[in-house]
Amino acid sequence: MRLPLHHPALLAVLFSLQAAASDSRCPTSRTAAISDAVSQAKDQVNKAFLDSRIRLRATMSSGTPTTPRLSEYLKHAKGRTRTAIRSGQVWEESFKRLRRATPSTNITGPALASLSWEVGCEGPAPVLKCDFDSPYRTITGHCNNRREPALGAANRALARWLPAEYEDGLSLPFGWTPGMTRNGFPLPLAREVSNEIAGYLNEEGALDPDRSLLFMQWGQIVDHDLDFAPDTELGSSEHSKAQCEEYCVQSGNCFPITFPPNDSKLKTQGKCMPFFRAGFVCPTPPFQSLAREQINALTSFLDASLVYGSEPDLASRLRNLSSPLGLLAVNQEVTDLGLPYLPFDSKKPSPCEFINSTARVPCFVAGDSRASEQTLLATSQTLFLREHNRLAGELRALNPHWDGEKLYQEARKILGAFIQIITFRDYLPTVLGAEMQTWIPPYRGYNTSVDPRISNVFTFAFRFGHLEVPSTVSRLDENYQPWGSEPELPLHTLFFNTWRIVQDGGLDPFVRGLLASKAKLMDQNKMMTGELRNKLFQPTHRIHGFDLAAINIQRGRDHGQPGYNSWRGFCGLSQPRTLEELTAVLKNPELAKKLLDLYGTPDNIDIWVGAIAEPLVERGRGGPLLACLLGKQFQQIRDGDRFWWENPGVFTEKQRDALRKVSFSRLVCDNTHITKVPLHPFQANSYPQGFVNCSAIDKLDLTPWASREE
Ligand code: HEM
Ligand SMILES: *[C@@H]1O[C@H](CO)[C@@H](O)[C@H](O)[C@H]1NC(C)=O
Ligand SMILES: *[C@@H]1O[C@H](CO)[C@@H](O)[C@H](O)[C@H]1NC(C)=O
Ligand SMILES: *[C@@H]1O[C@H](CO)[C@@H](O)[C@H](O)[C@H]1NC(C)=O
Ligand SMILES: *[C@@H]1O[C@H](CO)[C@@H](O)[C@H](O)[C@H]1NC(C)=O
Ligand SMILES: *[C@@H]1O[C@H](CO)[C@@H](O)[C@H](O)[C@H]1NC(C)=O
Ligand SMILES: *[C@@H]1O[C@H](CO)[C@@H](O)[C@H](O)[C@H]1NC(C)=O
Repeated sequence: MRLPLHHPALLAVLFSLQAAASDSRCPTSRTAAISDAVSQAKDQVNKAFLDSRIRLRATMSSGTPTTPRLSEYLKHAKGRTRTAIRSGQVWEESFKRLRRATPSTNITGPALASLSWEVGCEGPAPVLKCDFDSPYRTITGHCNNRREPALGAANRALARWLPAEYEDGLSLPFGWTPGMTRNGFPLPLAREVSNEIAGYLNEEGALDPDRSLLFMQWGQIVDHDLDFAPDTELGSSEHSKAQCEEYCVQSGNCFPITFPPNDSKLKTQGKCMPFFRAGFVCPTPPFQSLAREQINALTSFLDASLVYGSEPDLASRLRNLSSPLGLLAVNQEVTDLGLPYLPFDSKKPSPCEFINSTARVPCFVAGDSRASEQTLLATSQTLFLREHNRLAGELRALNPHWDGEKLYQEARKILGAFIQIITFRDYLPTVLGAEMQTWIPPYRGYNTSVDPRISNVFTFAFRFGHLEVPSTVSRLDENYQPWGSEPELPLHTLFFNTWRIVQDGGLDPFVRGLLASKAKLMDQNKMMTGELRNKLFQPTHRIHGFDLAAINIQRGRDHGQPGYNSWRGFCGLSQPRTLEELTAVLKNPELAKKLLDLYGTPDNIDIWVGAIAEPLVERGRGGPLLACLLGKQFQQIRDGDRFWWENPGVFTEKQRDALRKVSFSRLVCDNTHITKVPLHPFQANSYPQGFVNCSAIDKLDLTPWASREE
């Protein structure tokens, strides 16, 4: 049953029934207790959210941002996401207060509904009415599924494929309470696992002989189209985030990553790397579980939301509404030899400005707030912006009678199809290899019963791409030879680095680098490069920095992720219990022994660690567990998407035939000054082998989009 949360009168009735049954006190006093708890919690949470925003702004403008500030900036929630997270936080704080006030009574359904209503969990806006006849997706992803319009929409909980596992069953992550065990064993420190398992020193031989750097980059692009779980902004009831950070306090949402005793960072970075817990939403009726559920700020659909945004305010800010041409807004200050850049973020201060205080180039804005996190990502986001405007221009030439809205929506629809096609036709087969058919059989039409929501575990599985990131990025000239006096840049210098594009050669040298250099190979002995494992978000310093492997592990615990064997079981794979069995699964006795020494039991291996430790499937770039978790998710976002590009009625047959010719190489030809591109851009190519002139690459023929004036 759906509880009508918006109806206070009905609630009061429900509530008094409940009170009569289980509580001798008068209902109005219980209602008053709830409003008191909520109003106190609101004061506390609102203040923390405000303080956190003020602090972020202040510290960002006072010179070079530190690693924790850059990290906080990246995980900052905006707009409706922030509102939803704040409500989730108020709900939890109020619930704790109520439990403290009446420890002997259970808080049951009607009281929970009353609590949610008082907190404002449903949000101020009533559920919007869907126009199921619209030929276009909504920006938020609402109204895709006719029966359950919110399925796959932004700012809802990530889906659980297995129930959450918290130390206290509700919210505390495993590893929280000293001495507490999981399946009989204490959990190792996240950083210790990183040091023992993920680190390596010698970059020699680390590259993938068969995959281009674009293979890595496309993975991150797809991830940023699908999921983003930003942080909450409340430290704890006793400590602000700033205090937690300074003193390595573990309390509330402060969950510092402690350094193990002999860690080299102890000398330079204190006792811990600060870490804050992810934002979560209010629990939903009928309140079967009150466990924390993390939020997905993005639409679950593969719909180019990283280009257009996942909420209406942002979407309209990204558009050029001053002319009826259907364009996205472009940078008004600088161009790339006549080609547009993404607009700069008007919100000052912007951390990208301070990593080089001479250049002072701000961060870019795009549909996803992480667009400037590293230069190759910003480069890719720029290509999509240019492609949208190119498409809108061509569509207008064919259809002079179309208005700005029509041009925008049609170009958006084509770019969405482009990302779907490149991902499923070109990218996923190179990830899943021999297991492609098993998980993603040929498309057989839209299925309204398929759940398109991104699952919580997928946001960890898909971080396998962190093992494909190389230690340096190369810039190449017209002849695919090293560009300029500093052609090869260490990765850590490129975090939040926009000046290397705007003031140091433009997009093309980076794009050529994507096409003609290699990704790192995911390897049991060389997992994560030191650039990510020791220098994350320290673009200007050689020693300091965060550890992305440790963060992935800590984040999995924060998100209440079940352990390795639970997921093996979920996927119908064997569940190794002993050293022999784990050795057989990993085909690597040393790695199996190291993992067992750390964890005690394979059951406890953190999901991200277990998934990336497995040997690769044939012709693929992940093990069997990854193939299952990634394969299942991609199958679901395809088959459960009413606007999937192959779903009959979305495009005409002629349009689909035209779309089959799109390619990443053509995207490059059409939107840069580059004239020679590889035929198979996800494969490793070394110029000139495998490269052709742009004239040899199929163009997208838009004539099937020409329509007669009505
Ligand atoms: C230089 C390249 C990259 C950098 C610097 C980077 C950095 C990060 C950081 C800092 C986070 C947030 C961690 C946390 O707080 O939990 C993150 C999350 C994530 N990354 Fe990466 N990443 C890179 C490349 C990739 C690639 C290649 C992929 C996939 C193929 C990927 C997939 C993900 C996913 C799925 C998440 C979780 C997002 C969410 O739902 O919030 N990343 N990455
Ligand atoms: C509260 O709920 C728990 C579990 O459902 C039950 O065991 C317990 O008896 C209940 N307590 C009260 C006071 O109703
Ligand atoms: C730290 O100590 C552990 C256990 O004593 C040892 O296995 C590891 O090699 C040490 N690591 C470093 C970086 O010294
Ligand atoms: C909007 O489009 C017009 C016409 O093409 C152009 O002159 C203007 O610079 C654009 N503005 C932005 C912010 O992109
Ligand atoms: C900052 O950017 C300028 C180009 O605008 C460049 O010449 C300079 O070397 C950069 N400084 C640093 C420290 O990277
Ligand atoms: C649609 O999806 C549901 C849920 O996965 C499945 O049970 C059903 O068999 C599918 N229907 C078709 C026609 O494939
Ligand atoms: C590209 O075209 C030019 C002349 O149009 C020709 O000289 C060259 O060999 C071609 N290159 C490739 C890689 O096909």
